[in-house]
Amino acid sequence: MQIFHTIQGLRDALNEARQQGKRIGFVPTMGNLHDAHIELIKNAQQSNDIVVCSIFVNGLQFGLNEDWDKYPRTFEGDCNKLREVGCDFLFHPDDNEMYPNGLDTQTRVICSTMTDVLCGASRPGHFEGVTTVVTKLFNIVQPDEAVFGAKDYQQLAVIRRMVEDLCMPVEITASPIHREPDGLAMSSRNGFLSKDERLKASQLNKSLNWVADQIKAGNRDFIALEEEANRQIEAAGFKPDYVTISNSKTLELAAVDDEHITVLGAMYTSSARLIDNISLN
Ligand code: PAJ
Repeated sequence: MQIFHTIQGLRDALNEARQQGKRIGFVPTMGNLHDAHIELIKNAQQSNDIVVCSIFVNGLQFGLNEDWDKYPRTFEGDCNKLREVGCDFLFHPDDNEMYPNGLDTQTRVICSTMTDVLCGASRPGHFEGVTTVVTKLFNIVQPDEAVFGAKDYQQLAVIRRMVEDLCMPVEITASPIHREPDGLAMSSRNGFLSKDERLKASQLNKSLNWVADQIKAGNRDFIALEEEANRQIEAAGFKPDYVTISNSKTLELAAVDDEHITVLGAMYTSSARLIDNISLN
């Protein structure tokens, strides 16, 4: 695996690959790679000749009171995992390479729908940071295809919308949620959980499943379902952020006769905020 710390270095190598007619797949990450990230790489390998992974803990998408500084940085271990799966190129820029003019004056990409609900409501500015860095990364890598995980459902929806609205020539592929055996969605932030919290953290998934089952059984009292799921999460000792039954495409609150529904949830543990979702149909 070739490792690049500069935009120019990566571009030179990619230009050569492109001239040889190679199709380029891209998996952007913030590192601390786990099995779910590796699944995204494998997914990208299926339909591309060269797979590029990026590792960059993007300060622009973290709020001032969030965990940018304590976000786990495990570069050596990440490199080993990427080598093992046969990733071709790794892009690992520093802050100065990505934001040479600083964060405050950085030109931003704003997706004006879907970004101030759900996670966007609790994390103002978060999606602006995501769409800005993903645009920069797309411009640097110019991939034919980029693979994102369905765990970050809202992020995936926002990126799809951005690509459509800005006519970006990249195919977006969703990779299914990868879970621990007890149902907890894999996340770099799971490492922050205490032993006791880890035992109970699958409650988020259990409650979302409970809501999904109720809807499948014909219960369309969405407000009551959301309230009960929040109550279950609270009873397990966590602070619910939201459980919301949404239209899968627009992320607006689902209408009673909507067919494509996604149940999304987020909760706070003592040291991390965890998210999950389940799509019906
Ligand atoms: P990060 O949290 O590192 O996630 C990188 C990719 O892995 C995302 O597409 C995410 O959805 C996917 N992923 C993480 N856990 C997953 C799981 N359990 N199942 C399936 N996919 C999973 O998301 C980001 O980084 C950043 O916001 C980024 C897009 C890199 C922009 O900075």
